[in-house]
Amino acid sequence: MVGYKFMGKAHAHAYRDIPFYFDSDATPVLQGIAGRDEAGVREAARRYGFASYETDWRRLIDRQDIDVIDIVTPNNAHAEIAIAAATAGKHVVCEKPLAMTLDEARQMLTAAQAQGVVHMLCHNYRFAPAVQFAKRLIQEGRLGRIYHVRAQYLQDWIMDPSFPLVWRLRKEVTGSGALGDIAAHILDLARFLVGEFREIVSAVETFIEERPLGEMTSGLNASLSPNIEGNQTGQVDVDDATAFLAHFENGALGVFEATRFAAGNRNGNRFEINGEKGSIRWSLEDMNWLEVYFTDDEPGLQGFRRVNCTEEVHPYAGAYWPAGHIIGYEHTFINLFKELMDGIANRRDVEPNFEDGVKNQAVLAAVERSAMSRQWVRVAEM
Ligand SMILES: NC(=O)c1ccc[n+]([C@@H]2O[C@H](COP(=O)([O-])OP(=O)(O)OC[C@H]3O[C@@H](n4cnc5c(N)ncnc54)[C@H](O)[C@@H]3O)[C@@H](O)[C@H]2O)c1
Repeated sequence: MVGYKFMGKAHAHAYRDIPFYFDSDATPVLQGIAGRDEAGVREAARRYGFASYETDWRRLIDRQDIDVIDIVTPNNAHAEIAIAAATAGKHVVCEKPLAMTLDEARQMLTAAQAQGVVHMLCHNYRFAPAVQFAKRLIQEGRLGRIYHVRAQYLQDWIMDPSFPLVWRLRKEVTGSGALGDIAAHILDLARFLVGEFREIVSAVETFIEERPLGEMTSGLNASLSPNIEGNQTGQVDVDDATAFLAHFENGALGVFEATRFAAGNRNGNRFEINGEKGSIRWSLEDMNWLEVYFTDDEPGLQGFRRVNCTEEVHPYAGAYWPAGHIIGYEHTFINLFKELMDGIANRRDVEPNFEDGVKNQAVLAAVERSAMSRQWVRVAEM
């Protein structure tokens, strides 16, 4: 594993939990973790249960006892590490967004395909049982033709103007703002559930353009204890908020919104899909539930039903607890890495992978181009 803070913790925890719940075809062994700060990475290795640590990720890639490289660094380091890992014949799992640019994403896919390694992109929200169940309902045609997909990812953690210019607000490290950080998740969910994007028109906004220099001490949870470095300030050069409309290849119409300025919304990742025979709704902050409406329900009893997706019949749910014994955020990662382990053991493709990463990155690029040109942009032209 390269990096060890927010996602480092989520991933390490998930690898360790897999054998508790699943008979996966391979069991992860936490062999080595890399970070630049020796005291920090030593402590991460101890806490997360890694057998060893390195202060340069290249040393991990050189090691013969490592089969998989997991990239949980900020976005500007994804491509270099992934390409080096794949070229060395290691399987690669990478956090989202796959890359800084579409060109980088394509190079990562090419490197992974050239070596025939298993590659995976960490869009963990696909792996909530309720989301997987929504996918099954749509695939079975239970909603019929899809008319609408509307999705929002609403947060509020950078609204305070004195909150520092953390890496997620610096283009050279992050690539884009709310767009690549959180719109990436909802557009991935839309591709997973509804299909491919055809064209996009967008608008982006940066509300607070200058902030004190500084970083968070650890993960997003520490947003209330940021580290301010002196009196200097710097320019925010990414979007604080992004909104876009989309036409899908299958004729669906999409409305998307991602912002970190929606006061009161801590992690409001939600979607609603409307088809000719019904609708489904999901929200991360209530992630065990799927709301479902069918137009052919008996008159007088029509309405959204709330389904608790913790029954045996719901994907992945049976691996955990009896029905109604709910699961949480961390289980999305356990489910994702269970698929990775099975893919590696059986040398088969897993999803979402770097191909999805390239397709997602093309949508991100189209959103950026449209915001600049104020025109509709076809994703295929990216
Ligand atoms: N799937 C999700 O829901 C989700 C959630 C949060 C973050 N992410 C993604 O995960 C990645 C990491 O985000 P985070 O929130 O964990 O960030 P973070 O700031 O909490 O942790 C980043 C880690 O990378 C390390 N690092 C930075 N540059 C490095 C380098 N060159 N070599 C080695 N280590 C380096 C840092 O020291 C730190 O340990 C980002 O790509 C982000 O977009 C995904």
